[in-house]
Amino acid sequence: MTRDLDSLRELDYRHLWHPYTDIATHEKAPFHCVVRGEGSYLYEADGTALLDGIASWWCIALGHGYAPVIDAIREQAGQLQHCILGSLAHPPAIELAQRLAALAPGDLNRVYFAADGSSAVEAAMKMAVQHWQFRGEPQRTRFISLEQAYHGDTLGAISAGYIDWFQKPFADLVKPAIAAPTPHTPSGDEETCLRAAHAAFKKLQAIVDEHADELAAVIVEPLVQGSAGIWIYPEEYLQSLRNLCDDYGILLIADEIATGLGRTGAMFACDRAGIVPDIMCLGKALTAGYLPLSATIATDAVYEAFRSTDGVPRVFWDGHTFCGNPITCAAGLATLDAYEKLDIPRSCAPREAMLAERFAAIAQLPGVAYHKTLGMIGMCALDEASGGAARAKRAALIARELGLFTRPLGTTLYLWPPLTVTEEELGLMLDRLEAAIVKSMQ
Ligand SMILES: Cc1ncc(COP(=O)(O)O)c(C=O)c1O
Repeated sequence: MTRDLDSLRELDYRHLWHPYTDIATHEKAPFHCVVRGEGSYLYEADGTALLDGIASWWCIALGHGYAPVIDAIREQAGQLQHCILGSLAHPPAIELAQRLAALAPGDLNRVYFAADGSSAVEAAMKMAVQHWQFRGEPQRTRFISLEQAYHGDTLGAISAGYIDWFQKPFADLVKPAIAAPTPHTPSGDEETCLRAAHAAFKKLQAIVDEHADELAAVIVEPLVQGSAGIWIYPEEYLQSLRNLCDDYGILLIADEIATGLGRTGAMFACDRAGIVPDIMCLGKALTAGYLPLSATIATDAVYEAFRSTDGVPRVFWDGHTFCGNPITCAAGLATLDAYEKLDIPRSCAPREAMLAERFAAIAQLPGVAYHKTLGMIGMCALDEASGGAARAKRAALIARELGLFTRPLGTTLYLWPPLTVTEEELGLMLDRLEAAIVKSMQ
């Protein structure tokens, strides 16, 4: 049954609880209802076309309506829609695990599936803690994460997150990770960024030294603290962090849920930095945004800690009904096939250059404090003097009127387009973002 927009609005207000949304604000704002997606475009119920500037929460890697993934889902649904992974196995999960192991750096060979990014992070944290129990160091239960980190919304994941509004209401329920200073600095100047990252690393060193015996792992979003405001930081920090973890015998968890699978100009942000973490989390783009699937990939060494040597079973106590679901894994396999066929991320290079060039120009606009780009991510921050976060919100609303959907993060405006966006579409996104920033000053 198709409903008209007014009745959809009424039902929405009556029954649908939107995430991260103030109810009163939602009910006052214009109602936007998307009914279709195609390529880089979203289409609203009234036919309005919107360029999807943030790949629908950073996951629509291949654009909307990518036929080979849809076909794979259809085919798998007719073959086997669900199969418990405790006790049983099925080909899509086995094949996807093998493909991911081949793609991931170093000896990240052991793939554990969950359904969303937060669950992948939970699994990584639990894996790290149990790993230390089996290695005879059960006191290693603490984590270090970065200030303003975001690793998901479940209780374990928010314990490693430092963005106030996600964590504060639940502070009494979680044992917070130890916060290390962010390696990001609000500047576009490379030298300044390197110096700031180095200073942050020195402080991290002292923190690791102080807590050395109780640490299970350091967890980071490699190269980009996304939810903090697309805070891009230098590769050198990750390289030093890898060495530090090795020196102290601590695990390194790379949360590549946002950065993984081609977003940063390499298949993984860790590849760009030339490091191999002990555990890596993937999600979002893993099924090109079609179905919820995430993966926690461990090195052989971490996995081997879970192998019993004395006849006493060693079990990883985690598992979800939909972990490694056959249909989601088939979507994952079709997504990886598409990456190969389309040569992602290599083929993104011209559009990455375009983002870099155009954001450098946007940074010259009045009221823009600085910009940074990395792979298929471009961001600029508006300065406080010209309105900061309030102006960024205004600019995003203007952008929507101009036909570009983007969501500001504090003072940050950014583009995180589908990796299949055409040069023409990307040009339009940049034109509209630029026009919105200019108009928001008037
Ligand atoms: C770095 C990072 N980790 C974890 C998550 C949580 O993923 P999900 O929303 O699928 O639970 C996100 C989501 O934005 C993320 O950006």
